[in-house]
Amino acid sequence: MFPPYIVGARREWHPPLWLRGRCSVDMSFALAACEDPLIRMGTVLVTGGCGFVGSHVVDELIARGTSVRVLDLLHPLAHDGEPGYLNPGAEYVFGDVRDAEVVARCLDGVDAVSHQASMVGLGADFDDVADYVSHNDFGTATLLRELARRPVPLVLAGSMVVYGEGRYRCLEHGLVRPGPRTPERLAAGEFDPPCPTCGRALVPESIPEDAPLDPRNVYAATKAQQEALCAAFARETGAAVTALRYHNVYGPRMPRDTPYAGVASIFRSALQGGRRVRVFEDGQQLRDFVHVRDVAAANVLALDSGGAGTFNVASGEPHTVGELAAEVSAAFGGMEPETTGEYRLGDVRHVFASTGRAAAELGFRAQVSFAEGMREFATAELR
Ligand code: UD1
Repeated sequence: MFPPYIVGARREWHPPLWLRGRCSVDMSFALAACEDPLIRMGTVLVTGGCGFVGSHVVDELIARGTSVRVLDLLHPLAHDGEPGYLNPGAEYVFGDVRDAEVVARCLDGVDAVSHQASMVGLGADFDDVADYVSHNDFGTATLLRELARRPVPLVLAGSMVVYGEGRYRCLEHGLVRPGPRTPERLAAGEFDPPCPTCGRALVPESIPEDAPLDPRNVYAATKAQQEALCAAFARETGAAVTALRYHNVYGPRMPRDTPYAGVASIFRSALQGGRRVRVFEDGQQLRDFVHVRDVAAANVLALDSGGAGTFNVASGEPHTVGELAAEVSAAFGGMEPETTGEYRLGDVRHVFASTGRAAAELGFRAQVSFAEGMREFATAELR
């Protein structure tokens, strides 16, 4: 475990000021006058608030006048020290969410928690399993144990990876759940999973929140476990917990190409390195690419609503990975993408979201279109 107050990979000890006030916002006048429930919310603790999604949540909250405290490890795998984009309107604690003492102090005076701290992606290999479980699940457990002493509403950064494959319909057998695709079929270029009963072709459908969970890799298992722990916390304390299942988030500050990065960042990094984008399988796999500013807006709506529930956070506009490659390559002015037929064992074929519940209950509708978001992303600053 990393001790608190260490910034970046250099492991410098910083003065034992648990809150490094960068620019405290005096909200007292606004609290009295404003009817906006967000402004009345007081202070929100954002764990992982220096990261890709977390930092945008911080920006969005501060723009709306909420006071924000950030707890972030600045994990060396994700950061080379403090990122330049940190919002000076927040208070920053550089410490570990697995450290109960730091968490307890961070929770002091907090009215809601946005839990974004997480190790993401597929990892380098199975050796990463203990780190994923430690950061994601033990970290969440530590946070929840401290929160249970003083329960406040919690918004969890979840992921669509908990679903495993998306939803499929067989014209003969209705809704079916295909298992993992076999190496033999993938090697033969048969990328679409067949009906497990009759072997016929299936039609992919948008996945609703009540679909059964089928986490298929270590990261997915830890995200499913986070949801289960948060549900237990909600039942036992009566606190409102909102789990937001992010689909494929992209946008400025996305981490560069690492074993922990998603496809949009891999493509963008390839273009920046003067390489051609490599599209796996036949490029027809469907995802929902949602802009990070929309994800931040969904988080603020969830904090605002204070209502419990589980919601897909997605654009509602599914696109193929081939379309993603073409759009980003064209906007960047790079070479035409190459569809390679390669495959990764464990990848799912299609997964895209049903967005009705988030629209109805949170009032969330993504604002950034695929074309507009990709144009911006093609030249956006990565981390
Ligand atoms: C991704 C993330 C997952 C996150 C989820 C929702 C990873 C590894 N996966 O899942 O953590 O929770 O989005 O935000 O971070 N592909 C290529 N070329 C490449 C790399 C990938 O064509 O160079 C293809 C893959 O084969 C796959 C698709 O792109 O079909 C998506 O890949 P990726 O973003 O890695 O994984 P997701 O399953 O979408």
